[in-house]
Amino acid sequence: MDYRRSYLRDLFAAAPGAEVEAYGWVKTRRDSKNVSFVQLNDGSCFNDLQVVVPEGAIDESTLKRITTGACVRFTGTLVESPGGKQAVELQAKGVEVFGEADPATYPLQKKGATMEFLREIAHLRPRGNTFGAVFRVRAQAAFAIHEFFHRRGFHYIHPPIITASDAEGAGAMFHVTTHDPYAGKPADPAADFFGKPAFLTVSGQLEAETLALALTNVYSFGPTFRAENSNSARHLAEFWMVEPEQAFCSLEGNMNLAEEFLKEVIGAVLDRCAGDLEFFNQRIEPELLSTLSHVVNSPFERLTYTEAIKLLEASGEAFEFPVFWGADLQSEHERWLTEKKVGRPVILTDYPKEIKAFYMRQNEDGKTVRAMDVLAPRIGEIIGGSQREERLDHLEARITEMGLPMEAYWWYLDLRRFGSAPHAGFGLGFERLLMYVTGMKNIRDVIPYHRTPGSAEF
Ligand code: 4AD
Ligand code: MG
Repeated sequence: MDYRRSYLRDLFAAAPGAEVEAYGWVKTRRDSKNVSFVQLNDGSCFNDLQVVVPEGAIDESTLKRITTGACVRFTGTLVESPGGKQAVELQAKGVEVFGEADPATYPLQKKGATMEFLREIAHLRPRGNTFGAVFRVRAQAAFAIHEFFHRRGFHYIHPPIITASDAEGAGAMFHVTTHDPYAGKPADPAADFFGKPAFLTVSGQLEAETLALALTNVYSFGPTFRAENSNSARHLAEFWMVEPEQAFCSLEGNMNLAEEFLKEVIGAVLDRCAGDLEFFNQRIEPELLSTLSHVVNSPFERLTYTEAIKLLEASGEAFEFPVFWGADLQSEHERWLTEKKVGRPVILTDYPKEIKAFYMRQNEDGKTVRAMDVLAPRIGEIIGGSQREERLDHLEARITEMGLPMEAYWWYLDLRRFGSAPHAGFGLGFERLLMYVTGMKNIRDVIPYHRTPGSAEF
């Protein structure tokens, strides 16, 4: 076996007549009179390779072992495919069975299995069409994100995953401790591993700010954790966030970056994952392709929170949650704005300070902050960001007002004491972006292994 062997993807582009090997997992085997047909896939692309096994090419007992889910290596000749569905197929001459899959117990057999069922076999679902496509798109999108920032001179940074500070000041954090919480004895933070309470990070933003105020433009891309007890289709307890931070940048610059960023990453996925997106367009979300192309080619709408509230109030819709100035926008409001009112992504700015984090730059009106959320049709909030409060006195006042522990933020405040600068950044929920580009309806289905309340299998 050779690590440089070709992927099935490459075989589709090879010239008929070539003698090749094809590795993969069997999707189906169908026997007719003098010939068997095997659909083979190695996950390198959406399409299966059709393998034609003429009578006698493989002995009867070996052929019987080539069932759905089995892992095999075929050898044979690439020939032009008469069916026209694909350019080439493989005329098999031999096979090696690496691993059988007992048809009586292999769980991934039925067509049309529900998403809920597939979540229970998350270790096997990547072999199916839908999840193969999801994870290829996920990989391409991640790469496109790195490319986007790299081309613009942003430095890729790695904020800590374990932290002692609450970046959002919202308290929904997982404790990290070596104390046995089930032992019944009270925990003593001073005797714990870090000598004080520690948590899994909810955002790398505060640390990213320290690096931006030294390297100018930085971004992080890593896992973040929130102990929100939410069972919605848009929330995970462990999700991946992309967080750029720019020094010498205002809210406008931040909005421009967010818009360019989304358009470029979606554009790259459209270019590079055509086969997978075609499948999503046909089977998961009608008009996905036209919607995404539209998003790439038209400007996002920009509104202030106050303008959005006025539109919502005048909408005549019977919302479940009341709309008034000061209210946090609910998913139904975000969807009305993006889907019914505007028909494409919307950037909302200048939210009331009461519903936003302590670090956002305060506006002259004393009521609003320089926040921005990017809302997308179907998804709602996909990006949250802001210009940061760079003035020491304003930041301290807000921390006090919100009852947050001033001492814990000493290093963050130091940034405002020594060489402060206007700066801004945002966080993109990577899984929300993937829901948007694939059309998948539940965030649990765009991450290999979801972590939600009550669920940490695998
Ligand atoms: O709006 P959020 O809470 O913003 C921050 O964490 C900032 N510190 C980011 C920054 O400015 N550097 O979260 C950012 C994004 C949201 O817009 C959403 O897309 C996603 O992260 N997100 C979640 N995704 C999945 N599950 C959850 N529980 C999420 N919570 C937030
Ligand atoms: Mg937010």
